[in-house]
Amino acid sequence: MKVVRTKDDLKEELAAPRRDGRIIGLVPTMGSLHAGHLSLLRAARGECDVVVMSLFVNPAQFGPDEDLAGYPRDLEHDIELATAAGADLLYSPADAEVYPEGFATAVTVSGLTEVLCGDPARRGPEHFRGVTTIVAKLLNLVGPDVAYFGQKDAQQAVVIRRMVEDLDFPVRIEVMPTVREPDGLAMSSRNAYLAPGDRERAPGIHRALNAAAAAARAGSTAADALAAARAELDSAGIEPEYLEARDAIDLTPIETFNGRPALIAVAARVGDARLIDNVVVESTQRPERQEQR
Ligand code: PAF
Repeated sequence: MKVVRTKDDLKEELAAPRRDGRIIGLVPTMGSLHAGHLSLLRAARGECDVVVMSLFVNPAQFGPDEDLAGYPRDLEHDIELATAAGADLLYSPADAEVYPEGFATAVTVSGLTEVLCGDPARRGPEHFRGVTTIVAKLLNLVGPDVAYFGQKDAQQAVVIRRMVEDLDFPVRIEVMPTVREPDGLAMSSRNAYLAPGDRERAPGIHRALNAAAAAARAGSTAADALAAARAELDSAGIEPEYLEARDAIDLTPIETFNGRPALIAVAARVGDARLIDNVVVESTQRPERQEQR
């Protein structure tokens, strides 16, 4: 795997594959790779001729009180893991390369970024503005045919799909399933912040989502499904920042599960880690019976 630091070197590396019509896949990351990232790289390896991974801890998506300074970084280990997972090219720019002096542009997706994590009382829409701005830049720089994201960051995936559609980026967005620890905890770079006792409590989030999904599939209303999830969180001693059921495509709140696919999403602080996770429940409505001819 070749490592490049500048956009000029990136363009030079991609010139020949692009000219030859080879399929380029992009896996954007902030490093501190875990099995979730590796599943994205392997999916890209399986579908694309050239696999590009970006590694950039993007200051624009961290709030002033968030963990930018302490975000786990281990470039050498990430290089080993990305190489083993089949990446061909790593783009790892410096902050000043991405946001040079005078940088004054941001990409904003309205509405979708103001709920769940984007609620102004939580991370706020500025978080997603940072994400869409860097992802737009990466899509322009790499020009991939396919870009890969994880379902764990469900809202991020919805927002990026919206941006790509609205701004006509010529790229297919692939959202890959959440990868979990054996006890159900979703893989996240921020799991590194969990003290041993908190690590034991954290799988309560997955149990809560399973309880909500089971209730939804059994015909419960959204309120009852969320109550089932809440009971699991309570028994794990986890106070959610939010626990909500929303339409999985447009993120509008839902009351029942017999419409379009529903996203049940949770965010919770467990010790020093702010964790997010979700489950998607397909419509529980039975298909109408075909009329007999
Ligand atoms: O999901 C992430 O790791 C980041 O939000 C992303 C997409 C790499 C943008 O910085």
